[in-house]
Amino acid sequence: MASVPTIRLNNGVEIPQLGFGVYQVPPEDTAEAVSAALEIGYRHIDTAEMYRNEKGVGKAVARSGIDRGEVFVTSKLNNGFHRRDDALRAFDQSLADLGFEYLDLFLIHWPLPGIDVDYVETWKAMEEIYASGRTRAIGVSNFKPHHLRRLFGGTEVRPAVNQIEVHPYLAQDDVRAFDADHEIVTEAWSPIAQGKVLGDPAVVAIAERLDRTPAQVVLRWHVQRGDVVFPKSVSPERMRENFALFDFELSRDDMATVTGLDRGERTGPDPDTFNHVAS
Ligand SMILES: NC(=O)c1ccc[n+]([C@@H]2O[C@H](COP(=O)([O-])OP(=O)(O)OC[C@H]3O[C@@H](n4cnc5c(N)ncnc54)[C@H](OP(=O)(O)O)[C@@H]3O)[C@@H](O)[C@H]2O)c1
Repeated sequence: MASVPTIRLNNGVEIPQLGFGVYQVPPEDTAEAVSAALEIGYRHIDTAEMYRNEKGVGKAVARSGIDRGEVFVTSKLNNGFHRRDDALRAFDQSLADLGFEYLDLFLIHWPLPGIDVDYVETWKAMEEIYASGRTRAIGVSNFKPHHLRRLFGGTEVRPAVNQIEVHPYLAQDDVRAFDADHEIVTEAWSPIAQGKVLGDPAVVAIAERLDRTPAQVVLRWHVQRGDVVFPKSVSPERMRENFALFDFELSRDDMATVTGLDRGERTGPDPDTFNHVAS
């Protein structure tokens, strides 16, 4: 099987373009799911404090026998921890739960523009964490260009990635172009829109013609656009299917057809109005 390419972040760190996401994988099932993913060949895991399953991720990495340096692991700062001291403590807790000495990538999960802590201050805490050497890169998630512009004004370190919702029904070409112009890699969350795009007749027609599955067509579309993706599945069969993206290509016409499905439809909240902080 062809290997997964890496993308160079703006600080020189290499990230595997295809990973495995664990949102909505129940904590008690996470070690098993991540073990299956590692066995299949995934070397990039996307978790978050919010998912309550960092312990399972760490357990699977530890028992895999794979060198820690060969697995790229991302976690995220949860919404209740935007104040500096809380952010530093939350990072320590994520590392402890994962059982790691360092993370590969740590993100602010949501900008929360309506709460009483300015995300610019939160980013300064992220810079402190980065300076401590305990994460190889820092970035943001769910930031729009106007949120990023505010960050650039008041801080030193440019985010390495911006993890946003992207799929054929939400192509996000404006945010992706802004990210690219500022040397920020776009990561596409919910890359198959949690399954909603897989029955689309245009996607199904391409899949049938190429003898691939709809999920492979959509994930390959992301890969050819240059974004990082980490589809979630608890089924090893689907994990294998989602991993087999590097031995075929979509033509320019097929790429345009999938991009043409964009209808600005989110499956998740709009970052401008999402300010939910769990108690
Ligand atoms: N930063 C953020 O705010 C944010 C938000 C959401 C997600 N994320 C990240 O992005 C990752 C992926 O997004 P997601 O989990 O929301 O959605 P997704 O990967 O687009 O879709 C996952 C869903 O599709 C199903 N599925 C997976 N592969 C399939 C296949 N080949 N054929 C048919 N169905 C398939 C899964 O079911 P089964 O498990 O039953 O196979 C699951 O219900 C998350 O796990 C998380 O790491 C980040």
